[in-house]
Amino acid sequence: MKLLIRLSIFFAALFISSLPSSYSCNPKDKNTLLQIKKHFNNPKLLSSWDPQTDCCTSWTGIECTNGRVTLFSMASDDSVVGQIPDQIGDLPELRTLEMSSMNLTGNIPRTITKLKHLVLIFLSWNKLSGPIPEYISELKSVTFLDISFNKFTGPIPGWLTQMPNLQTFQADNNSLTGPIPNSFGSFVGNVPNLFLPYNKLSGKIPESLSKIDFQAIVLKGNGFTGDGSMFFGGNKRTVQLDLSRNLFEFDLSKVKFGKSMALLDLSHNRIFGTLPRELTELRLERFNISYNRLCGKIPRGGQLQTFKSYEFAENRCLCGSPLKKAC
Ligand SMILES: *[C@@H]1O[C@H](CO)[C@@H](O)[C@H](O)[C@H]1NC(C)=O
Ligand SMILES: *[C@@H]1O[C@H](CO)[C@@H](O)[C@H](O)[C@H]1NC(C)=O
Ligand SMILES: *[C@@H]1O[C@H](CO)[C@@H](O)[C@H](O)[C@H]1NC(C)=O
Repeated sequence: MKLLIRLSIFFAALFISSLPSSYSCNPKDKNTLLQIKKHFNNPKLLSSWDPQTDCCTSWTGIECTNGRVTLFSMASDDSVVGQIPDQIGDLPELRTLEMSSMNLTGNIPRTITKLKHLVLIFLSWNKLSGPIPEYISELKSVTFLDISFNKFTGPIPGWLTQMPNLQTFQADNNSLTGPIPNSFGSFVGNVPNLFLPYNKLSGKIPESLSKIDFQAIVLKGNGFTGDGSMFFGGNKRTVQLDLSRNLFEFDLSKVKFGKSMALLDLSHNRIFGTLPRELTELRLERFNISYNRLCGKIPRGGQLQTFKSYEFAENRCLCGSPLKKAC
């Protein structure tokens, strides 16, 4: 009897240990990955991608669920040159795609639209170029799209508003041109965080944006002009607003602040008027209004006197602490 139990435990264990084979690398995915390795001329970065081993357990930058590749991550090797291979579209269960800090050129291939479950896209710090392709909008599950530090040109895509789950669009330091699209007055789903610093964007902000409640919007280092007051509002939940280093020109005394505003940088613009008293009621962590055309007494209280005088410097006639100039 005891032997029988032992034997059945032995066979059960044998059965269970044979199970992972159904969870090991799917042969189609493995073949796709080997083609990608070949496409990049077998770079050192992928030396662990050995056809004799299980891609799910032994290959760097690969993770699987039930034998299907769900995460692909290649990063930080500038000896990897070339375009993003078309084969990337042949990993049908992919959730996370990272190809960052390499020397990738060209644009994002159309085959990416085959990745219907893709959620996170990280393509920062490459040399990708051309306009941001419209077919990206077919990827309805994407929440995070990071193309920052590349050479993308052309406009901010109006179709971003059609990506229902987008939470963050990050496109710092590219060469995008033109205005914020009018379509940004309404999003079919989430209102994403927008990080667009250091591009070549310009023009007036559409008035329709006054209805939009961004949690974070960073427009630093562009050529936007005119009114920026539509980003403010007493009912907004904005935490981070960075309009610095543009040509915004509006009356700050007239704006209302949402209670969650914590990171506010308006430096290097043409903003005029006085500082609203309400600023003393905010839990500000960062505040910079230097290099504008502001005037009058800096309200006393809250966090305002905790900032350095250079964060108020170079205005038309601001006075009071923390500036040395008395009113
Ligand atoms: C990759 O880019 C870096 C910096 O941009 C450059 O110095 C390097 O030569 C490039 N590597 C190759 C293999 O082209
Ligand atoms: C981003 O662009 C700004 C303005 O052109 C430049 O000063 C900065 O060095 C860039 N950052 C990087 C990391 O290239
Ligand atoms: C505020 O802007 C000034 C002028 O550009 C700069 O010197 C200072 O470092 C900025 N402060 C912060 C906290 O970014």
